[in-house]
Amino acid sequence: MIQVENVSKVFKITKKLKKELDIQQDSIKALDNVSFECKPGRIFSLLGPNGAGKTTILRMIATILKPHRAVLQLRVSIQLKKMIKCAKR
Ligand SMILES: Nc1ncnc2c1ncn2[C@@H]1O[C@H](COP(=O)(O)OP(=O)(O)OP(=O)(O)O)[C@@H](O)[C@H]1O
Ligand SMILES: [Mg+2]
Repeated sequence: MIQVENVSKVFKITKKLKKELDIQQDSIKALDNVSFECKPGRIFSLLGPNGAGKTTILRMIATILKPHRAVLQLRVSIQLKKMIKCAKR
């Protein structure tokens, strides 16, 4: 079971990236209070337009990225944690 609860992510934009992307803003809100549940044995689709935050949320589930808020808002099952541990070996 993968449970995602109220996950938000804001990327700070470096000066270099601002120049490269030709944008003025200092941050990008990639995720704003995202919640969903993937139940065992069920097929789950993550759909959304470009830039909707699909890759960002998947990176968080894979523990590559941290959610914006410090509180642990992502509950990943023990089985998935074991799989991640194996993948790191
Ligand atoms: N490392 C980063 N630094 C700054 N902004 C980022 C970073 N990674 C993603 N973003 C921004 O966060 C938002 C969500 O990006 P994300 O890549 O998660 O979307 P996506 O749904 O996977 O898009 P796509 O369908 O194009 O793959 C976008 O506005 C993107 O520009
Ligand atoms: Mg993507």
